[in-house]
Amino acid sequence: MTLPPQGSIQGKSVSFDRAAEFYDQTRGFAPGHDLPAVSLFTRDGQLQPDQRALEIGAGTGRILAPLMHHFQGQMHGIDISSGMLGRVSQKVNNPRLHLVLGDALHLPYPDDYFDAVIGVHIFHLVGDYRRALKEVARVLKPSGLLMHGWGQRMFDSRLMGVWQHAIGEENRPDNWYGHEDNVPFLLEEGWQPLPTLHTYTYHEDKAPKAFLDSLIHRHWSQTWTMTDEHLQKGIDAVRAYITANYTHPEVPQPFQQTFRVRAYHPPQGAR
Ligand SMILES: C[S@@+](CC[C@H](N)C(=O)[O-])C[C@H]1O[C@@H](n2cnc3c(N)ncnc32)[C@H](O)[C@@H]1O
Repeated sequence: MTLPPQGSIQGKSVSFDRAAEFYDQTRGFAPGHDLPAVSLFTRDGQLQPDQRALEIGAGTGRILAPLMHHFQGQMHGIDISSGMLGRVSQKVNNPRLHLVLGDALHLPYPDDYFDAVIGVHIFHLVGDYRRALKEVARVLKPSGLLMHGWGQRMFDSRLMGVWQHAIGEENRPDNWYGHEDNVPFLLEEGWQPLPTLHTYTYHEDKAPKAFLDSLIHRHWSQTWTMTDEHLQKGIDAVRAYITANYTHPEVPQPFQQTFRVRAYHPPQGAR
């Protein structure tokens, strides 16, 4: 594999190198749902063929790869994980795709360069989300949009509640994405939302036990910095909940999945 060119990478952000092997199995859209889900990014009239878009924290290309079917312009992606970006290179071989191994806090692009910047489940992982947002504003053209996407948790929301409560982290920043309508941190930073929240909902069969297994195997980034004791506390609570509520926890059940996208103009005087 040829690694993409490397920009500057600084500490404190959460690299997903360790997740490259299992990310698509644990976070991917269910088969057949990726194209309709990512079509939400085209609903506000951006992403025309003569335009340039960037995904920050592009990961394995879960968003970017199917989006290239809807968007015929130049697609850029940046991530601090070479393992994750390597997956994109395996999926997409297209001269319109430009990958950079680099940091969203120091975007290696000129001012006013992109018509759209896409961010999905990234701002809680960067070392300084305000700095990342300033960088997004800098590289966006004055007419450009931040297209912010986020998905609902993959399992029974009560199960997630049990987990978060047991580990005492109901107020973690990644709970920013639990909001149905909007994400307060963008509004707080002065980003101006477009009126329409675009939503794609479908059902996916998932076994409740798979959630427990994903905790045991530390598949979720939230578990990566937890001590064994702390993690065990959460696992015990989740196991007790599953035992009490599911007769056959290994049998897949239909869970509702929702993916949402809202576009934002940069704050007035962002630079
Ligand atoms: C939860 S994954 C999301 C990937 C993709 N956006 C998606 O929705 O599937 C977050 C990604 O952000 C990357 N990341 C974390 N901090 C970063 C930073 N400062 N700059 C660039 N990428 C970063 C991680 O390596 C990881 O690949």
